[in-house]
Amino acid sequence: MSTDRRLPDSFLWGASTSAHQTEGGNTNSDWWAFEHSGIDFIKESSGDACDSYHRWPEDMDLLAALGFTDYRFSIEWARIEPAPGEYSRAAVAHYRRMVEGAIERGLRPMVTLHHFAAPRWFMERGGWAATGSDELFARYIEAASAVLASGVDHVCTINEPNMVAVMAAVQHALTSGGALPPLGLPLPDEATANALIRAHARAVETVKTLAPHVRTGWSVANQVYQPLPGAEEVAAAFRHPREDIFLEAARGDDWLGVQSYTRGLIGPDGPLPVPEDAERTITGWEYYPQSLGHAVRHCAALAPGTPLIVTENGIATADDTRRIDYTTAALGSLAEALHDGIDIRGYFHWSALDNYEWGRYEPTFGLIAVDHRTFARTPKPSAAWLGAVGRSRILPAAA
Ligand code: FCB
Repeated sequence: MSTDRRLPDSFLWGASTSAHQTEGGNTNSDWWAFEHSGIDFIKESSGDACDSYHRWPEDMDLLAALGFTDYRFSIEWARIEPAPGEYSRAAVAHYRRMVEGAIERGLRPMVTLHHFAAPRWFMERGGWAATGSDELFARYIEAASAVLASGVDHVCTINEPNMVAVMAAVQHALTSGGALPPLGLPLPDEATANALIRAHARAVETVKTLAPHVRTGWSVANQVYQPLPGAEEVAAAFRHPREDIFLEAARGDDWLGVQSYTRGLIGPDGPLPVPEDAERTITGWEYYPQSLGHAVRHCAALAPGTPLIVTENGIATADDTRRIDYTTAALGSLAEALHDGIDIRGYFHWSALDNYEWGRYEPTFGLIAVDHRTFARTPKPSAAWLGAVGRSRILPAAA
């Protein structure tokens, strides 16, 4: 095996989750309200999810035993600030215990401050686009300072701001009777996008003041837009407001989170459907593991000098052997990028657990299966395999 694929000792090796998708009972969040609004998009509510609000020690025990050294999870604003200006000491203490619990088990915690869900009151006052949202976000971070001060190395301010801005556009369309594009995602809502960029800058400043040792960044959804011959300019114009402005906003950060699952083909008139003959995953996305290599290269080009961390990569499949195949190829493309000198500092697989996939449970991204009635956890073969790859410190060769 070539030493090209050998990882430095400091390389982060983890799995990711988010609070709303795993904790259960996040009843004070905008997502819970959305889940119960009767909208067609929602097939089932998050309910008890994986009950990780109570069972996080078991999740962490499993990850550490499997060979992971890092765990990315999020803390829930709706629990920490249930009403404007009213803070829950118990919720802050809960997340502080999670950070301490991770460290005790040999897992370095990466903490996400906002992963799609926000307090219901925050959305009711107009969400990110409303005046003062960055100020409110900073105030919540200050309230959570005890969590950050308890041994967190990495903080992700906002997960996939580009998707948050897309979801704002989707909600506008659904509530105003407007139409969604037949293919691809709508254009991110511009006011929301700008507000998120401001909120990120403000959050970085706030975290640095509260806990100067913490390395801050945010994680952007990479769609790996690939133009057909002749559609290069169309693809670039399409990508700019959907992705590039968020990557550019990461210039100068301590790190940039790369999240990649698939690619999007772009023709002269815009997005194209997944090719007929392509394998699709449960989410309907094209099986295209090489997207990870393309994504890290694109991020490195847009935010030169900013170290990259893969904060999400994975596949929704009921066939765990496909998860191993997919991840082998994805890691192979990562090894090639590392070999070419791209500064990548870590890899977090999405997801540690089969969890609530924003509207339904069917797409199973987990390394660990969860019985949503008994909450029993069962690691899949891919979990042992990926943990062992981490222990070996050698990435697999590209398939
Ligand atoms: C990303 C989200 C994550 C999960 C994966 C499949 O867009 O950040 O919560 O839903 O996709």
